[in-house]
This record gives sequence, C-alpha cells and structure tokens, in this order.
Amino acid sequence: MNATARDPVICNDWHPVAGCIDLPIGRVHSTVLLDTPIAVARRDEQTYLVWLDPEHRCRHHMPLDAAIIGPTLPATLRYGHLWTSIDEPRHPLFSLPEADEAGRRPCHPGSIGVHTGGLRAIENFLDLAHFPFVHTGILGAEPYTEVLDYTVTINDANEVVATECRFVQPQAALNATGAAEIHYIYRVPRPYTAILYKTCPLQPERFDVIALFVQPVTETRCIAHQWICILDSSSSEAALRQFQLTIFGQDKPILENHREKRLPLDPRAEMPVRADATSSAYRRWLAGLGVRYGTISASQQ
Ligand SMILES: [Fe+2]
Repeated sequence: MNATARDPVICNDWHPVAGCIDLPIGRVHSTVLLDTPIAVARRDEQTYLVWLDPEHRCRHHMPLDAAIIGPTLPATLRYGHLWTSIDEPRHPLFSLPEADEAGRRPCHPGSIGVHTGGLRAIENFLDLAHFPFVHTGILGAEPYTEVLDYTVTINDANEVVATECRFVQPQAALNATGAAEIHYIYRVPRPYTAILYKTCPLQPERFDVIALFVQPVTETRCIAHQWICILDSSSSEAALRQFQLTIFGQDKPILENHREKRLPLDPRAEMPVRADATSSAYRRWLAGLGVRYGTISASQQ
C-alpha cells in the first residue's frame, strides 16, 4: 500500500525536503519523501521546484528543464528549508513568528540521514531525561539528572506544548559562559516538526529557537533537518553548525539503536523505560490526529 492510501494526515501535510543552502541554482537534488522518489531544484533566487521522479535517477549533471520529467508538487520556501507535500496540503505551513524577529540569526547546521522513523527523532528531541547521559558536559551533567515537574497542554492551534521545563546545563549554547538553569518550552506543531525555545545565555529574558524538521523518507528512515534562529551575533557560522552537529551526532546512535523503528502509539508500549509526560502527550496526540505513517499500533506489536 502506498503512503497516500495509508495515511492522508501525513500525505496532505507539508514536509521539508532540503535546506536552502544545499540547493545551488540549477542543480538537481534527488531525495525520497514518504516512500516516493522526488527531485528538487532551484531555478533562480526566488523559484524552487519539486517534482515526482519515479525513475529516481541521478540528475545532478542534467540541464534543469531536461531533468523535470514528472508532475510538479507544491513548493514553499520557509525557515531555511524547501517544503513540499505529495498530495494537496490541507492547511498552511505552521507559524514560527520568531523567524521574522529583528536581531535573530537563522542558521541551518545540517541535514542528517538517520536509520529510524522520523517520529522517534521528534520524540527524542522532546526528551529532557537523556541530557546528562547522552550530552554529558554540554546539555546536562551528573548529579543534575532529575527531570523536574513541568506542564504539557494542547494549545488552541492543536499543538503539543510543554512549558516550565527547567534543567541545569553546563554549556547550554555556544555562547554560554558556564553552567546555568535553563528554561525550556517545547512546541510540536505537526507530527514531524518540533520547536524548542530555550533561555538565551546572553539575554536570559529571551529565548533562542532551535527547530527540528524531520523528512520522513520511509517509515523506518528519516532525514533530520536542523534549523536555529538564535540571539548570538558573535559566534562564527562554522562554530554554530559544529555545536549543533556535535549534539545531534550524540543522539544519532541512540536513535538508530531502537529495534522497532516506528513509534508505538499503544500507551502500554515501552512505558517502563519511557514515562515522560511530553512523550505520552505526543503519542496520544498522534493517535488522536489519526497518524499511521511511522507508527505501530497495538495489533501490530
Ligand atoms: Fe539529544
């Protein structure tokens, strides 16, 4: 069964398929979205194209017009990425007002292929408890291993939101000068998108924005596109990228260690190891939306 027949919620949604910096003008980039081979390209500064590419051939060296062989798909450029939908999108792309705030610095640290389902990557991004053990000395350290109580709600836009999260972090950001208690807010606007707001080290009354846009390649493989929009005018672009890629490099082997690469939505599944409130709310929310792509139901376990 193809992805469309299987899950209209996901197939009629926007998904990231490339970081803009990875798309030089005129060059064709082949990728896969929801088991569907596609190609993407930038015709000029303003025009981006996405099309179905059933032959899935390397078209890197072809003139652009010769490479476009399949029907075109919707394409929109936002938050440093090109977004598309393999069917008709049912709603606009989620909002991220901070992207337009003056003084913020957008950066695309990189896009990383991960051998696990995309929903696993989002759930890991929402998990505070792994910081001291996986990101030791950066996002956490012993003895500060306790996850303090926080609040999880569904907001008016039907997004999962976790507020009042706090964690002591040795190096919360590249421009942090020492350990500090960092405040977190998580937003999950769509099943494969998560946004983190965390205390900015140099302006503690404001939040840095760190987003994870996940491209579901298949149900068991994904590409994690990172995007940050932070209040740091002094660090070099290379250093910012390296900091984020180091953190994700620590998550990647953990993610790939899951034997079941799809996310179980049955509340009884995996509960002894994962009783996290945001994770539970995320799984319930996915079930309520009717998401099936990348999930495993009780009957399949
Ligand atoms: Fe992590």
